[in-house]
Amino acid sequence: MTPGKFITFEGIDGAGKSTHIGFVAECVRAAGHIVITTREPGGTTLGETLRELLLHRPMHLETEALLMFAARREHLAEVIEPALARGDWVISDRFTDATFAYQGGGRKLERTKLETLEHWVHPHLQPDITLLFDVPLAVARQRLDASRTLDKFEQEQADFFGGTRDEYLRRAAEFPERFRLIDATVPIVNVHKQLEKILSTI
Ligand code: TYD
Repeated sequence: MTPGKFITFEGIDGAGKSTHIGFVAECVRAAGHIVITTREPGGTTLGETLRELLLHRPMHLETEALLMFAARREHLAEVIEPALARGDWVISDRFTDATFAYQGGGRKLERTKLETLEHWVHPHLQPDITLLFDVPLAVARQRLDASRTLDKFEQEQADFFGGTRDEYLRRAAEFPERFRLIDATVPIVNVHKQLEKILSTI
């Protein structure tokens, strides 16, 4: 059996990544694979309960990082690892790069603490491909303002998202073998073309 692949979607709030998950899932299905789509924080019953707390309750920065990784531990055990072991493909709307970007780049938690948690929770597993949807801050803010009620992270200010985007781009440069940068400023059809090209190489 072809081993399953693990694809993650990343980007700052307002980059539009969630719009494209269905498209990528359909492309992978059309290529004959079973696909599981999931998200973080969340993806399990416990994880979705933690998501409610994480997105709406103020808490200490380290509590936030620890809960992100606690939800992730559950997600890996219940959903991601079993699916990959079956040979299915997993598409996750955010994973550990989001914790480095948001709690690290955005909130300034020391990177070494996050590396310790990453090593604890998934010492051997990394995404096969990470699709980073990139837009300048001004574009992201405009898209967010046009949408619904904002959660705790979406209410953050420009310097937070500047730090978040910088950390995403720093990680993309650090791990070029798995990161693929998507220009998400262009119309949806052009984003789809970029995605099709990337998928044809996996
Ligand atoms: P998001 O993925 O943007 O979902 P929606 O499209 O429904 O708003 O929301 C999840 C939020 O959680 C997002 O603002 C980023 C934040 N987050 C972190 O701060 N750290 C993490 O490790 C993860 C996975 C998400």
